[in-house]
Amino acid sequence: MELQSGARLAAQQYLALLRKNAILTWRNKRSAFLQLFSSLFFIFLIFCIDRAVRSRFASTTAYKNVYDPEAVVSPPIPPCEDKFFTKVPCFDFAWSGNSSARVATIVAAIMRNNPGRSIPSDKVISFRNSDEVDAWLLSDPMHCPGVLHFVERNATVISYGIQTNSTAVARRGTYEDPTFKFQIPLQIAAEREIARSLIGDPNFSWMVGFKEFAHPATQTFSAVGQAGPTFFLAIAMFGFVFQISSLVTEKELKLRQAMSIMGLYDSAYWLSWLTWEAFLTLIAALFTVLFGMMFHFDFFLHNGFAVLFLLFFLFQLNMLSFAFMISTFITKSASATTVGFSIFIIGFLTQLVTTFGFPYATGFKRYLRVIWSFFPPNLFAKALDTLGQATSTPEDKGISWSSRNQCTTYEEDCVITIEDIYRWLLSTFFLWFILAIYFDNIIPNASGVRKSVFYFLNPSYWTGKGGNKVEGGICSCIGSTPPVEDVAPSDEDVLAEETIVKHQAASDEIDPSTAVQVRGLMKTYPGTTNVGCCKCKRTPPYHAVKGIWVNLAKDQLFCLLGPNGAGKTTVINCLTGITPVTGGDALIYGYSVRSNVGMSNIRRMIGVCPQFDILWDALSAEEHLHLFASIKGLPPSTIKSVAEKSLAEVKLTNAANVRAGSYSGGMKRRLSVAVALIGDPKMVFLDEPTTGMDPITRRHVWDIIEDAKKGRAIVLTTHSMEEADILSDRIAIMAKGKLRCIGTSIRLKSKFGTGYIANVSFSGNGTGQSPINNSTAPSEHHLEQVKSFFKDRLNVDPREENRQFLTFVIPHDKEPLLTEFFAELQDREREFGISDIQLGLTTLEEVFLNIAKQAELESSAAEGNLVVLNLSSGTSLQIPKGARFVGIPGTESADYPRGVMVEVYWEQDDSGTLCVSGHSSEIPIPPNVELTRAPSLSRRASRARTPLGIVIDPTQILNGR
Ligand SMILES: Nc1ncnc2c1ncn2[C@@H]1O[C@H](COP(=O)(O)OP(=O)(O)OP(=O)(O)O)[C@@H](O)[C@H]1O
Ligand SMILES: [Mg+2]
Repeated sequence: MELQSGARLAAQQYLALLRKNAILTWRNKRSAFLQLFSSLFFIFLIFCIDRAVRSRFASTTAYKNVYDPEAVVSPPIPPCEDKFFTKVPCFDFAWSGNSSARVATIVAAIMRNNPGRSIPSDKVISFRNSDEVDAWLLSDPMHCPGVLHFVERNATVISYGIQTNSTAVARRGTYEDPTFKFQIPLQIAAEREIARSLIGDPNFSWMVGFKEFAHPATQTFSAVGQAGPTFFLAIAMFGFVFQISSLVTEKELKLRQAMSIMGLYDSAYWLSWLTWEAFLTLIAALFTVLFGMMFHFDFFLHNGFAVLFLLFFLFQLNMLSFAFMISTFITKSASATTVGFSIFIIGFLTQLVTTFGFPYATGFKRYLRVIWSFFPPNLFAKALDTLGQATSTPEDKGISWSSRNQCTTYEEDCVITIEDIYRWLLSTFFLWFILAIYFDNIIPNASGVRKSVFYFLNPSYWTGKGGNKVEGGICSCIGSTPPVEDVAPSDEDVLAEETIVKHQAASDEIDPSTAVQVRGLMKTYPGTTNVGCCKCKRTPPYHAVKGIWVNLAKDQLFCLLGPNGAGKTTVINCLTGITPVTGGDALIYGYSVRSNVGMSNIRRMIGVCPQFDILWDALSAEEHLHLFASIKGLPPSTIKSVAEKSLAEVKLTNAANVRAGSYSGGMKRRLSVAVALIGDPKMVFLDEPTTGMDPITRRHVWDIIEDAKKGRAIVLTTHSMEEADILSDRIAIMAKGKLRCIGTSIRLKSKFGTGYIANVSFSGNGTGQSPINNSTAPSEHHLEQVKSFFKDRLNVDPREENRQFLTFVIPHDKEPLLTEFFAELQDREREFGISDIQLGLTTLEEVFLNIAKQAELESSAAEGNLVVLNLSSGTSLQIPKGARFVGIPGTESADYPRGVMVEVYWEQDDSGTLCVSGHSSEIPIPPNVELTRAPSLSRRASRARTPLGIVIDPTQILNGR
């Protein structure tokens, strides 16, 4: 099938990812709802703030334009209870000069003639002079809003003075102006009654009206302009946090890595996220403006719709690309909320500073404005402030689209217009987006992969050519290789393979039948430093793969076996570019895994089933296959049928539309296998594909893999020896980062197995085989006869025995004798009471265990790892891990001049490490055995109290038997 490439492939990937993003948003409705509709809630809050502020300022005209002020005509003296914060009992007014009868009459007239309400006598208090009044006010304040001081100079002159507390106060949002409320009424009343008294006409009167000046609003307030920046920032933060969390989750769950391995273009990835989120942002911005208009804010009604919409859209878009950039520094999605909250707090503070006028005024240096404008919330706050000021009173016209590039008349020292703010937001949007892509490339991912700091200066990055050149250097992650002990492999097959590959590598030739040439691949994980409380713990670098040389043929399944932690997954990760190699190289169909360009070519022809499933919980199997098929570049017309076929192959048709999050472990594995095989890759890596599958499904997947073998190279790792035996053309067993053996299953069994296994079953006195019926049990005599027959002819003892059968392990060196031996045994079947004889090679499992033990033994010897062996005799010995025959020191006697030894039985625990499972009875050390002690072990053991066992080379014992 011809795969798409170039711009077509990028476009196809872009559309598939866009679809994925839309599905993920749809499946995560709650966050999408918050992103789109949170503005309604916040605008409602702003509305509440606006109402509260309006009612508070209702009694003052400072916030209004006053063109035709209303006159207050002859206001009456109000009851003292009307004064804010007065103490009861209170007095409507106090007066001094009570020694004058004429003044007393005037005051009585004031009380009687107060318009609308005569003042009772208990609401007025009198004093002789102003000093007494002052003393009273001082000793008992807040009982009276005003005082009149009368002095009768002569018959025609009465002077008076007024004393009031002129401090304006506010209570529950209402201002009290003491001049208009208390001073003027007292003044009018005093003047009126003095005039009447002097003229002698009790009805003498005049109309007095008081007005403030007509004035524009002396103070302005726009709820949107002042509270808006914080609230709209909060709205943008929803999108910001969701965006960071989506990007980081894909990175954290290695989904991005999985897509990259399949050949995803970074440009398609970023653009798909950008387009989808920009679409959501567009709707969110539209809703914000519409909701604002719905609440009848002058801010939204009087400023131009396009001006507002563009501002909200550009700001949220800017926050989006800012989120893209921030996400490249974060590795855990759980940190998204913390980062979002921190940005919000910083934004809130800088916006506050911006609203107070910094630095968008002529008094500040230009460079301060430039620095300040890089943080999107600041520019946004400035724009809201300008637009808010432009609509702070109902008469203001706001800023229209045509006046966006002009300074408003409300700003005295205007340094930035709305259009300038648009330009800034647009340019910083591009800046963050480009930085996001750049940082994404140069910051190492979870596996340590990154490009060099100047990767974009490398022409091959743009041309896509030069894939077989090894890259490296100071700015690349592939630096100098840490030293790994360079020991030639002990196995002749591995050595032969290594020599061939080295030879081919030296002459830079690759056999046309070779799919992968692994040239001394090494991987060292760097050590880590954990800074804890008071101490700093450093772990040394770990050599996970220590130089592997191997050719993998086309049309073959290469099976990599090995205990846990052997380095199998690391090899696959190195070959698929998941993790950078630290030494050596590998060529896949001629492209080097150490070259970025080579890797991008390799990705187009490989399929990977990782050890741990990498799937989106929210996507179904079908959606996964559609997505990966599109990323791989399958022609769009074939994707549907290919996905259906793949689903049928892995028996997931019935669960095709169920979300992968609800799949069982085995179903997820099957989906991962299907994903690995989609798009007909030339090279497939299957890392433990059948783990967790039931036997029926496993066999089914074996069939799939067997079919997939045609026309492609497959690397398979497994812990099932049966699987390796059935599927593989070639097997290599790895342990401790090195290849220990390589060859076909038969070759390994014959080379590393203990030999042949002969099972002899008895027929029970020749009449029956029921183990229940004792009368039909085979006689002891027959068993002994067979045992001695094997001992005499082949010198072997049974490894297992019971009344029904005997199992013998026949070493390889006895192979020439076997034909004759078994012919004779068959002839004497009746005589020995034998019902059946089975002969087979030792199992792969046995080979595996032998190799693993051997590797463990080697590394224990090198590292000096010791374990304690508790003998049944009560003695304890320290022995190297994996040692099979161990001499017990101090057991030399006259009977056993060389002392005694035991055979130690080992088993591997769940984590693959060897542990002692038991030991044989004590036997004398044969005379031919050489007894030596590894010096490194002796040194270590000498520090401990338990004595060190004497390690005996097993070949010496086995050859001697
Ligand atoms: N990212 C890492 N950082 C440090 N050490 C690592 C890292 N990944 C793997 N290792 C170590 O490298 C060694 C090889 O690991 P690897 O996963 O390749 O083993 P494996 O052969 O695949 O084992 P298994 O059969 O359990 O899958 C292990 O000892 C492991 O602890
Ligand atoms: Mg593994």
